[in-house]
Amino acid sequence: MRIIFKVVLVSMSTIKTAEFSRVASTSEIPPGIMRKVTVDGQDVVLANVDGKYFAIGDVCTHQDGPLDEGTLDNYEVECPWHGSRFDLRTGAVKEGPAGNPEPTYEVRIDGENILVRAK
Ligand code: FES
Repeated sequence: MRIIFKVVLVSMSTIKTAEFSRVASTSEIPPGIMRKVTVDGQDVVLANVDGKYFAIGDVCTHQDGPLDEGTLDNYEVECPWHGSRFDLRTGAVKEGPAGNPEPTYEVRIDGENILVRAK
C-alpha cells in the first residue's frame, strides 16, 4: 500500500492595520453636515448625524457621482446624480440604481480631532 502525504505550506502574511488619519476638527463638521475628506488617497464622505460621525466612500458605486454633494437625510446620503441612497452606518445601498455598497471607515474622536481609517 502506498501512502502519499501532501504538505501544504501556508504563508502567513503580516496583517497590517490601517493608521488613523486626522481629517477635520469637530467644529468643522457640525450636526447635519457632511464633507469630502481624503483617507489613504481615497475620497471619503464624513457626516455628522446628531453628534455621531460616520464615514463611507465618497464615490458613488453607480457611476462615480460625488456623494458629498448629495443630500444628507438622517443616516442616509443620497447621490446627487441619480438618487441612489446609502446607509452611512453600513455603506449598504438603501435605494438604487446603485447595486454595490460603499466601503465603510472607522471614525474616532480624539479631543477636537476627527480621525478616520479604513476598516
Ligand atoms: S452616480 Fe450615483 S446614482 Fe448614479
